[in-house]
Amino acid sequence: MTTTLPASGRYAVFGNPIAHSKSPRIHAMFAASVGQQIDYVARLCPLGEFAADLERFRNEGGVGANVTVPFKLDAFAVAREASLRAQQAGAANFLMWRGDHWYCDNTDGAGLVRDIETNQGVALRGKRVLLLGAGGAVRGVIGPLLLREPEALVVVNRTHATAVELVGHYAAQYPVTALTTEQLVATGQRFDVVINATSASLSGALPLPQDAAIFAPDALAYDMMYGKAPTVFLQWAGQHGAARTCDGLGMLVEQAAESYVQWRGVLPPAAPVMAQLRAELLAS
Ligand code: ATR
Repeated sequence: MTTTLPASGRYAVFGNPIAHSKSPRIHAMFAASVGQQIDYVARLCPLGEFAADLERFRNEGGVGANVTVPFKLDAFAVAREASLRAQQAGAANFLMWRGDHWYCDNTDGAGLVRDIETNQGVALRGKRVLLLGAGGAVRGVIGPLLLREPEALVVVNRTHATAVELVGHYAAQYPVTALTTEQLVATGQRFDVVINATSASLSGALPLPQDAAIFAPDALAYDMMYGKAPTVFLQWAGQHGAARTCDGLGMLVEQAAESYVQWRGVLPPAAPVMAQLRAELLAS
């Protein structure tokens, strides 16, 4: 397939709120590192006006966008063409103008997989993976995780019915099951990779009982959230048997790299950008 990259054009990240977004800085650093220029800004989109605002953006020369909370479902709905992984997620964080329509993708799963496999050096193939949560963040990554052929993927969510419903879409084809928190604790299953995709860290809550014993030897604990200090989940994991812990800063940068390569035809190196953002975070 040949694609024609736009010679010039505008890019933006749509969200509400959006002032906190690191995406404009990430894409500016990517462009500089590969000798390109990119016009990429944060765009505060009025609530309930995503489609209209995207059209305004298009009329202003917009050719590509990232989309964050709360518009990922709107981005998927507005696009006339969607990648398989966006269809699986039912949500999109990436838009690209294709001649006469918007194409959408979801790069979150690819970002997570690349951070775990390339940056953390943990191949998911044949591993036992535990995914905590069953909301939008999980829907965005479960398909790409299963494509890496883990031995088993277990989904545990506070509201068990949501996990059962989600797993139902994949269970015929993949080794994926939903367990209640009680079942997880009672069966004593251990996992090589445990991913916290709940929003519990935002409120400083732990998404599991304190006494859950879930880590296999050499296990990686991963939190999709990140901050200056380790999240409650990562602190707990470090004290309860995880050999290694990792927050979601790398996923943020890698999902952006996965956007950049589709728009601009070059995969920018993520490591220097991750190092720069980490240093800024620690200094903040
Ligand atoms: P996101 O897009 O970040 O996934 P979401 O769709 O609102 O946001 O989903 C939030 C997820 O975090 C859900 O899985 C939620 O569990 P419920 O389905 O039971 O609501 C989970 N979550 C939020 N706060 C939590 C907490 N304190 N403990 C455990 N799980 C929590």
